Amino acid sequence: MLERSDLAANALTSLHDEAYDAPYNTQEINADTMIFTGGRDGVSLAGDWNFCVDLLDTGLRQKWFAMTPAPHSEPWDYDPFDGDTVPVPSNWQMLCDKWYFFEGSAWYTRSFTHDLKPGRRLFLHVGAAQYDCKVFLNGQFLGNHYGGSTPFCVELGGALTAGDNWLMLCVNNRRDADRVPMQNTDWFNYGGLYRAVTLYNTPACVIRDLFLRLEGDAIRADIHVDGPTDSARLGIPGLGIDMTVPLTDGRASLAIPATPELWSPDTPVLYDVTLSAGGDQVSDRVGFRRIERRGTDILLNGKRLFLRGISVHEDDADLGKMTSDTDLRRRFAHARDLGCNFLRLAHYPHDPRAARIADELGFLLWEEIPVYWAIDFDNPATRRDAENQLRELIRRDRNRASVIIWSVGNENPDTDARLAFMTGLADLARAEDPTRLTAAACLINHETLTIQDRLAARIDVIGINEYYGWYESDFDDLIRIGANSQPDRPVVISETGADGDHEQGPADGLFSLAYQADVYRRQIEILRKLDYVKGISPWILYDFRVERRQGIYQRGYNRKGLIAADKQTRKPAFEVLAAFYAEKQASEDR
Ligand code: GCU
Repeated sequence: MLERSDLAANALTSLHDEAYDAPYNTQEINADTMIFTGGRDGVSLAGDWNFCVDLLDTGLRQKWFAMTPAPHSEPWDYDPFDGDTVPVPSNWQMLCDKWYFFEGSAWYTRSFTHDLKPGRRLFLHVGAAQYDCKVFLNGQFLGNHYGGSTPFCVELGGALTAGDNWLMLCVNNRRDADRVPMQNTDWFNYGGLYRAVTLYNTPACVIRDLFLRLEGDAIRADIHVDGPTDSARLGIPGLGIDMTVPLTDGRASLAIPATPELWSPDTPVLYDVTLSAGGDQVSDRVGFRRIERRGTDILLNGKRLFLRGISVHEDDADLGKMTSDTDLRRRFAHARDLGCNFLRLAHYPHDPRAARIADELGFLLWEEIPVYWAIDFDNPATRRDAENQLRELIRRDRNRASVIIWSVGNENPDTDARLAFMTGLADLARAEDPTRLTAAACLINHETLTIQDRLAARIDVIGINEYYGWYESDFDDLIRIGANSQPDRPVVISETGADGDHEQGPADGLFSLAYQADVYRRQIEILRKLDYVKGISPWILYDFRVERRQGIYQRGYNRKGLIAADKQTRKPAFEVLAAFYAEKQASEDR
């Protein structure tokens, strides 16, 4: 033990205090500490960071974050200023075999310098850290963020020094019953700093938020500036808007008469937007459109719509949960080949570039937070975590015209606690953004063979995950469900499908490609007759990695993809769905 350590007082405590992490699970880094990042020139912290896995949280116990890069005379268990490095962004599971199934804390350490002038502010922005992240700068704890797929921001302020500043991020991907998601999921539990890490240097005034959307014959702009200024300047040159906006306590909300060309998948028109305040300046590219429901119809710009979709995970055989522009554009190219106008980004917030590219190419998106299966619905801390992830997702993407649906969960049990929890999330989504539809992926009521979920009355679109032909065998039941159900709002079949193992599956029967294609034929034959079904997003575009599937035809992968994990090999079911979408689109164009 480190009795000789300059933290000797801690040496014994670190062995006997099992509440060692309580001071670092504060979650005060959250939606309210975000800054608007569009158009900012930041300093990327991508590159090699010192790294070690820390299964027993020895780092928090021994307070590795308090170490300094001086030569050490004590026998420390790890030296954050020396040893292995990993590239950031990345998922540690993809970097070396011994970390493939590692779940716990891992320490990322690097230095940076700055030339912050008096009166300027420095913010650390992390695109995503799976699952929680504790931030230390020069030995000082700055805060903790929960949520593995949403961005967060923390001001570095008083902890900064001249010369080398040492940043230490303790990222923990441990699964827990009270987390969002909890410990049981059907996707791989990646870990790490797997999206961009950036430093932003701003004036004393920092623009924290800008939300633009169509509101009748006007554009509503919500502006939030943090700092000593009483006005902002908003420019949308394509609409002839260039105006000074008075701020009250740093905020403004105003409707600006405008008739923009409407965004749609066929006309993905985007307008350049700039906002400046107190010397700070941000920009964005925004499309304006209307999405609404009337009865069981979904309407885009007043025109009824059928969502020709596909579900996608963030998963790559080489990259893990990390994605790239190339990977994203390949995904949209495959969706285009399938004849899609819609993608369900399951089951968590995807990389922000996905919605930006969808804006540009003309796709509609369902975005979702990972309130998945048996979440701890009775736990206030779990609810706080889920609500914060939803706020962070909405504030990150609510300028993206492609996003039309916020989904608050997936396949949850229909209990009173879940109803209260998810009704609260649906209400929160509307409060953060009244312009989009709310949804959840619900389950069929198999007792009554109907589409019946108490949450349906609290959301705009009823997502239904049904696997007739796979988990349920009798397609006649799907026909009965169709006939028995009279939903009063749109239904989207948010999941259906079957595994098909293209490498070593059988010639026929379960897990064969032929069987998978046949399930698609039977599903389409039944679903196309249900006039309240306004879209489908079958499960799933690509085979994806998951620990729980170790059968001989799965081998660590869920093989319901229409394309194999190589993201090249198309299965026969791909063409079955593509043919249906081509026919659907042709009938709409008539
Ligand atoms: C469920 C779940 C998915 C899962 C899929 C499957 O519906 O929502 O996350 O991967 O079924 O079993 O393949």
